[in-house]
Amino acid sequence: MYGNDFGPPEPAGVTDAGPADLGGEDDATFLALIDADARVEPRDQMPGAYRASLIRQIAQHAHSEIIGMQPEGNWIGRAPSLKRKAILLAKVQDEAGHGLYLYAAAETLGVDRSELLDKLHSGRQKYSSIFNYPTLTWADMGAIGWLVDGAAIVNQVPITRCSYGPYARAMVRICKEESFHQRQGFEILHTLSNGTSAQHAMAQDAVDRWWWPSLMMFGPPDDASPNSERSMRWGIKRFSNDELRQRFVDMTVPQSQALGLTLPDPELSLDESAGHWRTGPIDFRELFEVIGGNGPCNAARLAHRRAAHERGQWVRDAAAAFAAKHATDAQGAA
Ligand code: 3HC
Repeated sequence: MYGNDFGPPEPAGVTDAGPADLGGEDDATFLALIDADARVEPRDQMPGAYRASLIRQIAQHAHSEIIGMQPEGNWIGRAPSLKRKAILLAKVQDEAGHGLYLYAAAETLGVDRSELLDKLHSGRQKYSSIFNYPTLTWADMGAIGWLVDGAAIVNQVPITRCSYGPYARAMVRICKEESFHQRQGFEILHTLSNGTSAQHAMAQDAVDRWWWPSLMMFGPPDDASPNSERSMRWGIKRFSNDELRQRFVDMTVPQSQALGLTLPDPELSLDESAGHWRTGPIDFRELFEVIGGNGPCNAARLAHRRAAHERGQWVRDAAAAFAAKHATDAQGAA
């Protein structure tokens, strides 16, 4: 039953793993439901390609959240005050929580989290390009919060209306937390920008380095985005990469003025008739290089993630042993 997991008894052929996939990706019944803005729930029938594309996007999103803990984790021990340290620690923990909700959402589609992590560790699934850049100064914590989390919000608020219910619902809480992250980044930069001339220069340098990579987070331009058309037809994506990128630019330029910082684009100008800020050309060769594994930190990020996973093996073993013991005790008591 679409949008209702507690419908009448399941028809023959439905197993615990959920109903079999619908055949074609353009199944008329399915598309009619999408057009009616209904939500697809885990035990609903869905085209196999829709399921596969959701797993691809949600897994990439989950991987981005946990890899995204690394660049900021780098500064927890060097935050300039106890208050800044506590805030940063909480933010990095939020990212771990986002990964958890998203892996759980992906699992409702019939994949196992360990399988997704294997794919991340072996490079068969991606994570966001943005986390392959280094965090060189404290001001990078501000630039990441303001620009990277700001871009994440613009990209992710429309996903709260995604056609797949568990993904949409996970995004509601994630977006609320991202909004706090964006504010704390803005506040760090505001403090630095209005501090000493050295602090102002540090803030400007961070913005100079993070601006273009933040624009690339939205993905390739629409005419080079193989997944967009189908994802939009299925209500997974509500807006195209370029539409969201433009929305981010329009939102961010006035904020940079409030911060007293410039954006590193001599061609940035206001198109008054359209009411949009226009950037100079974005060098998407850099995005494809980073996605292809050749960014400044790709190798270090994956090596760190693999090592953390291996070091956590004893926790997984202990949890499995506890669950097995609990199951045996429960059997004995029955
Ligand atoms: N980094 C890495 N890979 C990217 C990318 C990026 N910035 N942009 C696009 N790609 C990949 C796509 O995954 C796709 O590869 P695939 O077919 O092998 O999966 C390929 O490049 C072509 O791109 P498309 O535009 O066709 O791909 P999509 O339609 O999936 O659009 C997307 C890409 C806009 C990133 C979309 O997947 C999306 O909105 N995802 C959900 C949000 C997300 O994952 N955000 C990541 C950042 S999370 C974050 O920032 C955490 C926060 O705490 C800061």
